[in-house]
Order: sequence, then C-alpha cells, then structure tokens
Amino acid sequence: MKIGVIFAMDEMGGIGYNGGLPWTPHKKDFAQFKDQTMGKPMIMGRRTFDSLPGILPGREHMVITSNPDSLPDHEMVYCARDLADAIDQYTCGSGDVEMVWVIGGKRVIEEAVKIADVVRITTMYTEYSCDVWIDPKVLVWLRENAVRVQEVERGENHDYWITEYHMKHA
Ligand SMILES: NC(=O)c1ccc[n+]([C@@H]2O[C@H](COP(=O)([O-])OP(=O)(O)OC[C@H]3O[C@@H](n4cnc5c(N)ncnc54)[C@H](OP(=O)(O)O)[C@@H]3O)[C@@H](O)[C@H]2O)c1
Repeated sequence: MKIGVIFAMDEMGGIGYNGGLPWTPHKKDFAQFKDQTMGKPMIMGRRTFDSLPGILPGREHMVITSNPDSLPDHEMVYCARDLADAIDQYTCGSGDVEMVWVIGGKRVIEEAVKIADVVRITTMYTEYSCDVWIDPKVLVWLRENAVRVQEVERGENHDYWITEYHMKHA
C-alpha cells in the first residue's frame, strides 16, 4: 500500500489559521485535492476533520483522536489512536487498499512525511496569517531525502505551485 501526504502551505510553511485554512478557498487547489484523493481513504487529525465543511464524498475519513465518541456515526468515518494505528487498519485489512492520503494537520503530516511514498505540496506564493506551521526541519528533510522532485503545476499568475516529492522507499 502506498502512503501519500497532501497539503497546502504558504511560503513560511503555514497551513492553518483559527481552525481553518489561512487563505480564502482556492478553487484550483481544491480541485486537484479532490482529483488526487477521490476513492481513496484520507487519514487526518481530529481538528482537521472538524475543519471540513462536512463528510467529503467518495472518500473514507480515518480520524486520529483520543475521543472516538466525538466523531459522528457515519459509514465513511473511522477512528484511530495514532498514525500507526490508522495505517495498520488499512494494511491489516482485506489488502485491497492501494493508497491512502494523509491530509493533515501538523503532527500527522510531520510524522507521515517520514514514511510516505509521495508528498504533494501546494505552496501559496504569499505569506498569510497562520497559527499552525509545518516544522521547517521537516521540509528540509523532505528535500534532502526525495529521489525525485517534480513540479506538477504552477498557477498562471504565479499565485501557487504544486510540487511532488517522490521518496527513496517508493
Ligand atoms: N493547509 C492544509 O493543507 C491543511 C491541511 C489540514 C489541516 N489544515 C489546518 O490545520 C489546522 C488543524 O491542524 P492541527 O495540526 O491543529 O490539528 P490536527 O492534527 O488536525 O488535529 C489534532 C488532533 O488530532 C488528534 N491527533 C493528531 N495527531 C495525533 C497523534 N499522533 N496521536 C494522537 N492523537 C493525535 C488529537 O485529537 P483529540 O484532541 O481528539 O485527541 C489532536 O488534538 C486547521 O486550521 C486546519 O484548517 C490545513
């Protein structure tokens, strides 16, 4: 099973503000997030789950939380104790899951980058007010350990770009 990590950040590694995204909804980034994740399980921290506008169609939501009772009773919502437990639930199952996407937040991304096959980052070409950042050391580690870094998309107005890091063990 392949593990992907997908998120968007500003130039300083900021990913969140006030329980939501630091920027106004970015249509193209949402569209590519949907394309990538559709039909595949998404693993996320509980605050990221709370930040979603609802259950995203066509994808299982595996939510990491110490309080499973806080999650809605829904056929597309599952819970895990931590990232390892979330991944185990897919690798120890029927074995027909080809790929999972880890979608945030901070701690889950920082842990998952170290074991991922692919890390896909949208960088917003501006600095926003943020209160959640990815540790810059993790981003440096990512650049140093990727076997291939591929720019897959750049905004027409240079307002964002999307980079994929393919990792050594992929
Ligand atoms: N820009 C992006 O691409 C992006 C992506 C995702 C999220 N975000 C933003 O980031 C913010 C949320 O991220 P966040 O980092 O604050 O929170 P988060 O990781 O989404 O959620 C934190 C919660 O998840 C649980 N958790 C996470 N990792 C765990 C671990 N390893 N072991 C045990 N429990 C764990 C705990 O839940 P309990 O307290 O329930 O135990 C913890 O309080 C929001 O502003 C959101 O909009 C941005």
